[in-house]
Amino acid sequence: MFLLVFLGVAIIMLFGMVVLVGPPYLPTLRRQIDGALDMLDLRPGQTVLELGSGDGRVMLAAAKRGLRVVGVELNPVLVVVSYLITWKYRNQVRIIWASYWGPRWPEADAIFTFMLPKYMSKLDRRIEKWRKGPVKLASFAFIIPGREPAREQGGVFLYEYK
Ligand SMILES: C[S@@+](CC[C@H](N)C(=O)[O-])C[C@H]1O[C@@H](n2cnc3c(N)ncnc32)[C@H](O)[C@@H]1O
Repeated sequence: MFLLVFLGVAIIMLFGMVVLVGPPYLPTLRRQIDGALDMLDLRPGQTVLELGSGDGRVMLAAAKRGLRVVGVELNPVLVVVSYLITWKYRNQVRIIWASYWGPRWPEADAIFTFMLPKYMSKLDRRIEKWRKGPVKLASFAFIIPGREPAREQGGVFLYEYK
C-alpha cells in the first residue's frame, strides 16, 4: 500500500514539476497531428524533431509516414510510454530524455511542438541559432510573436525558416 501511494505521488510530482521549464502534458488530437504532418510535407526518410514528445502519438504518426523522428521529452514516465508506443518503428524513432532547453538539438528538416505562449519567442531564438539551413516548424495552438506563419490550419501554425 505504501509503495503504491509513494509511486502515485512520485508520478504526480513528475508531471507537475515539468511546468517549471515547459508546458504540462496535454496531447495533440489526431486531426491536428495529421494536419501538421500534411503541412510539413516531408518526404519519407526526412527527419522531424518533436520538442516535448509526450506519449509518442505524434512520433508514431510521423513514423507511419516513413519519416524519421527524434523526440525530446523531460518526463521519464512519458519517455517510457512513448518508447513502448513507438517500439514497432524503433529503427525510425529516437527518444531523448532531456530538457529541450538543454542539449544541442540533433539535425532535422522540421520541428513539431505544442508549447505555451510564454516560450514561443525563446523557441524562435533557439531555432535561429540551431538551424544550418531551411527548416519548417509546425506549432500547435500557439504563434511565434512577430513572425508571419506561412499557413494556418485547424489551430496548427506553419513557419518556414529560410
Ligand atoms: C502540451 S504537451 C505536448 C505533447 C505532445 N507533443 C503532443 O503534442 O501530443 C508538452 C510536452 O512537453 C513536455 N515538456 C515540457 N517542458 C519540457 C522541456 N523543457 N523539455 C522536454 N520536454 C518538456 C511535457 O512533459 C509534455 O509531454
